[in-house]
Amino acid sequence: MSATRVCALSELEQDLPLRVVVDDVPICVVLDSAAEVHAVGDTCTHGEVSLSEGFVEDDTVECWAHGSRFSLRTGQPLNLPAYEPVPVYVVQIDGDDVLIDPTVTKPAQ
Ligand code: FES
Repeated sequence: MSATRVCALSELEQDLPLRVVVDDVPICVVLDSAAEVHAVGDTCTHGEVSLSEGFVEDDTVECWAHGSRFSLRTGQPLNLPAYEPVPVYVVQIDGDDVLIDPTVTKPAQ
């Protein structure tokens, strides 16, 4: 599968996550404070909670339910109760288009 346009770069607000669904895969898209766009799996690995309803700080997103914070770079949880990572997707920027292929994840770090 090729990358799919998920939103416009200009519609992303800094540190405000956006939930998108590509081929039934929910993805949390974040423009961080360093103007870098990240895409991680939107479902917290501790429960069925949408990470895009959480809070962004630097290059992390925090699940609102129980406070696990996930790295937007590696997908790794940085604190309990979550202990499994979320997938991290490769983001392509083409002009004002943000493109993601939900079948292509970054290698685990
Ligand atoms: S559901 Fe996300 S930390 Fe519990």
